[in-house]
This record gives sequence, structure tokens and C-alpha cells, in this order.
Amino acid sequence: MERIYINGGKPLSGTIEVAGMKNAALPILFATIIVEDKCVIENLPKIKDIETALEILKAMGAKIRELSNGNVEIDTREVVCGSIPIELAKAMRGSYYVLGAELARFGRAQAAFPGGCDFGERPMDQHIKGFEALGAKVIDNGDFIKCTTESGLNAASIYLDVPSVGATINIMLASVKLDGLTVIENAAREPHVVDLANFLNSCGADISGAGTEVIKIRGVKQLHGVTYAIIPDMIEAGTYMVAAAATNSTLTITNVIPKHMESITAKLIDMGISVTELDDALIVSRNNTPLKKIKVKTNFYPGFPTDMQPQMCVLLCLADGQSTLMEGVFDNRFKYTDELIRMGACITVQGRTATIEGRPSLHPATVRAVDLRGGAALVIAGLATKGVTWIDDIHHIERGYVNMVEKLQSVGADIKKVVIPDVPNGNHL
Ligand code: EPZ
Repeated sequence: MERIYINGGKPLSGTIEVAGMKNAALPILFATIIVEDKCVIENLPKIKDIETALEILKAMGAKIRELSNGNVEIDTREVVCGSIPIELAKAMRGSYYVLGAELARFGRAQAAFPGGCDFGERPMDQHIKGFEALGAKVIDNGDFIKCTTESGLNAASIYLDVPSVGATINIMLASVKLDGLTVIENAAREPHVVDLANFLNSCGADISGAGTEVIKIRGVKQLHGVTYAIIPDMIEAGTYMVAAAATNSTLTITNVIPKHMESITAKLIDMGISVTELDDALIVSRNNTPLKKIKVKTNFYPGFPTDMQPQMCVLLCLADGQSTLMEGVFDNRFKYTDELIRMGACITVQGRTATIEGRPSLHPATVRAVDLRGGAALVIAGLATKGVTWIDDIHHIERGYVNMVEKLQSVGADIKKVVIPDVPNGNHL
């Protein structure tokens, strides 16, 4: 078992380069199933969820070739339908993109209900609504989702009740080769939806409106292979921006698209942090200025991202006065706050709202990651806190962050990963 050791309370300094975006890479990897050709995907983040996605593609019959600097060649010409090992499907949320890709290529699809972070109810009713509108018969027994078609799929207009990222992506995938015009209304507008549309269009698809609430997909007969680079990860970038603010540091975050960061940048400036925008980098600096209390409400893009909610909570715990943090996307995304409270944070959660009484500092503790972004928040809390903090269950963090420990060490953090030998009775020393 591995743990993270942090001896915190010291300012950081230097430059951190952001990797490719996990939530853009996952749909693009599964979209190669539809391409039925060789694609080279560049700027793929080397994280557990991407490894899992490549394992799923291999299990389906894709030929994967690791190229230099983490790029990957994927040949999906011999891919077959419905052969995903359940344990891989359950390892993350993004495995459900196989459904849209298989429907596009085979006219049928089958996958285990996906895993992913536990934020309470994470239904797939909007995905199913979209598949059924396209003519699929969907059976969802809670463990498995199976889609079949008697008379084939047809283009359709679909209005999403929720601007779901996953449903928008799955419907886009399923309709990309359907004769006629499929329209998704109330679509998700996230940058990773746009990145998938750009990838598919570079393969010969005809998709317009991505990034707006109305996406139009005009079906094409065949796609062709391309070389495509994934966009930078705005959530990884935001995580290190908050780390700079929480540790009273100046950090340069490179390989970012400042436009994607606007809502995060705005909130940090509201708290008194200096953020300087360069073409593809941000300089985040807090020269001992006190953190101002603010209200934050997460929302669908371009609102403040829900995937930055736990990280922002840590900053509010160190602000002057009372702040409120409202979760506008998921039912229950505050499980990590119990761990911050063990570090002395003063947080009261009622439903989707956390009320936070700022403190000058937290105190070190042994805590555990309960999900991906909650785990990243604990790293930030440890960095900001004088003394030694231990973090367990760090596999959650490694699903979504490339070399987080090494990147933080490179800017002066006293942080390391420690391997704890398992003892026979299953406990840890
Ligand atoms: C994606 O999850 C991301 N995961 C999440 O990132 C991210 O938090 C989320 O989008 C919102 O931005 C991946 O891309 C792999 P949704 P997804 O469908 O697609 C409700 C991370 O940390 N909903 O946009 O599952 C749902 O319950 C992860 O990287 C329905 O009601 O999110 C939620 O309240 C965590 N019915 C809201 O919509 C549906 O059929 C947004 O969910 C689908 C969703």
C-alpha cells in the first residue's frame, strides 16, 4: 500500500507543466472505435484511468502501440463488440463511452454500469433517453446496459433535461455516422466536449455547435485515422493554482488555455490572489495577502467547475471570515470535508451547501482520500499546514493526476510517496 507524506507550511516556487486532460482523453480514446483505422493520440496523460481505457480497448481487440513521450497509436480495425471485462468497466466512469462508440460502429452495445467517484446518485437516464431517441432498445438492469436495434438507428433531435457531459458525449458518438441530422439541445458546453468534436471532425465527421447548448451532428459514411493532441487539463491547472494560493507561493502553471480557466481565475482574484495571464501559462501569486471570504457555487461550464469544488474548499478554510460553497451539479460531493475537519477545518454541510469558518491555519493529521478531487484537496491542505500530514488511499488521486508528487517536489514541496508493506492479516504496519 502507498501513502503520501507531506511536511507542509512552506511556500513553493517555480513552474509546473500541465498534462493532457483526463476527461477529454477518455471519450477520444473510445471514439477511435468508430474510426476503424489507425489514430495517433498525443499529449495523453499517463494516469490510471487512461491505462484502464487502453486495457478496455485492447480487450475489445484494438492494437495499441506506445510511441515516444507518451503518445499512443491505436488501430481499431479488428475491434469486436461487447467484450469489456467488468472489473475494467467498474474502475471508472468514462468506460460508458463504449456504449456510444459501439452503437455507432455495430448498431448494438453492451457495457457494465460504470464506476467512478461516489457523489451519490449518478444516473444514466439522459444517456438512455438519447439512445432510445436514436432508435435503440435499451435494457438497464442496474449492473449492465444493453442496447439493440431491430431496424437500425436514425438521426433524431434530443433535448437533455440536464446538460450532462457524459450524455452529450455518448449521443454525439452514437450519431456521428447516422444518415441525416442529429441535434442535441441543452448540450454540455465543457471544453472536453469541444475537444471530442474537434477530434471527430478531423477524422471526417460533420459536427457543429460544440461549446454551445445546441450541437448538430450530420452523419457521414466513414471516418479516417488522424494524429490528434489532447487539450491541457483545466482541472489539473486549477488544482495547482489553488495550491499556490494556499501555500502563499508564486507558481507559473504552463501548458494551459487561459480561456478555460476564466471562472477559476476570477474566484482566486476575488479572494485577493494575483493571477497573470500569458499566452499558454498563468502566474499565480499570493504575497502574504490575507485570503478574502467569498461565496462559490459550482455549475455547468462555463460556471465554476464542480471538479474544483474540494480544492476551493481548502482555500476557503484559510480565508478571513465565513464563506459558503454550494455544489450545483452533484447531490453529495462533500464527503471529503470530514477529512478536512480532522485537520481542524470548521465546515458545516447542509445538503448541497457547505458553510466554512476560515481559520489562520489547519493542523496536521492522518487523513484518507475518498475520491479523486477530494484527495487532491487533502494534498493542498497538507502543503498549506505546518507539520507532517499523511494521506492514505492515494489510488484515488492517481486516477487523475500525472506525477503529482514529483511535480510538487520540483517546486520545493517536502512531499513523498511511501510504500507501506502489507502484513499477512491484511492490516498495515
Ligand atoms: C463528467 O462526469 C466528469 N467525468 C466528472 O469528472 C465531472 O465532475 C462531471 O462530468 C461534471 O463536469 C468524466 O468526464 C469521466 P454529468 P459525468 O453527466 O459525465 C446528472 C472528475 O473528477 N445526470 O455531466 O458523469 C448527474 O447526476 C470527474 O474528473 C443525470 O441526471 O457528469 C449530475 O448531477 C468527477 N442523468 C449532473 O447530471 C444522466 O443521465 C452532471 O453529470 C447523467 C447525468
